Amino acid sequence: KQKRITFSGIQPTGIPHLGNYLGAIKNWVSLQNNKSESELILYSIVDLHALTIPKDAKMLQKSKIETTIILLACGINPKKCLIFEQSKVSAHSELSWVLNCITPIGWLSRMTQWKTKIQEQKNIHSIEDINMSTGLDLGLFAYPVLQAADILLYKSTHVPVGDDQVQHLELTRNIAEKFNKLYKKSVFPLPQTILVPAKRILSLKDPSKKMSKSSPFEFSRISLTDSPEEISQKINRAITDSQKGISYSPDTRPGISNLITIYSNFTGLTTEQVVNKYKDNDNKMFKDSVTEIVVTHLQPIQKEIEKLKKEEGYIKDVLKDGANKANEIAEKNLKEVYAVIGL
Ligand code: ADP
Ligand code: NA
Repeated sequence: KQKRITFSGIQPTGIPHLGNYLGAIKNWVSLQNNKSESELILYSIVDLHALTIPKDAKMLQKSKIETTIILLACGINPKKCLIFEQSKVSAHSELSWVLNCITPIGWLSRMTQWKTKIQEQKNIHSIEDINMSTGLDLGLFAYPVLQAADILLYKSTHVPVGDDQVQHLELTRNIAEKFNKLYKKSVFPLPQTILVPAKRILSLKDPSKKMSKSSPFEFSRISLTDSPEEISQKINRAITDSQKGISYSPDTRPGISNLITIYSNFTGLTTEQVVNKYKDNDNKMFKDSVTEIVVTHLQPIQKEIEKLKKEEGYIKDVLKDGANKANEIAEKNLKEVYAVIGL
């Protein structure tokens, strides 16, 4: 039986937010806690991906430490999984080039994320106005290939991601399959998507978009380090509608439904149970309840963050140790790939 290898990544592009927590980190922790002895889990701080979003060098350094601290504070345990910076394992870039050479541009142009990201960065109104000449950098266009390399480098069998990443996982499987066929050797297993149970968390400013670190609007997301006052302000400011009462309807009431989703994810209540509890509330009353739930659940994490902030030496050791172990596997697999393609 094939050994189970799980890989996932988070970009050090800012402080992780509720979407990252409910849509990824929380699930990473439970996968880690339920893993079998032989399963290998790798969680990478994908700093090479962060370069696709303009950012200064100091900020990037800072984000990497912050993101690591937050992962640990949320319960990621370096004794159970490898946590490391992507750029410290050079085989990610090397395999990425190999895969670039067999990935049709047509496959990449069908991906939707580069469009949403350019739209955000350049504040372009309509997604229809975006095409390959709208100031698109090669890195942003090709980053799904780097993502495929991240996953395939470890011969990963499982990848837990939010539904925003399903398209990229499909691409990863297509690339792996093409490689295996081309060289008539099954080097890469086709990795399975582990879809995170939580629904996508939406932007508080514009619930037609996902909550994201890369949005320039700070009040569109709740960062895991936000104070109770900031959380309250942001939730009160969240775009909802003027319909009376609380009901769950993601299509017609995306703003209020997003708040119900957040409440439901933190408490474990179903969306119906949340609606039943609050259906006669006005928006303001319901927002106060959501604020309370978020503040209460973030409190222990924030306490742990404060503690870890004073232990930068330990954080750096964790990353170094993770990179050493990841490098061992990565080098061995890259060597195999190079041999297969004649390098
Ligand atoms: P961001 O898009 O905010 O920069 P990342 O690309 O670093 O976040 O994503 C890290 C993980 O968080 C991925 O598994 C992704 O699916 C998940 N994720 C990101 N945004 C959200 C969201 N709004 N809701 C749910 N999951 C999300
Ligand atoms: Na993303």
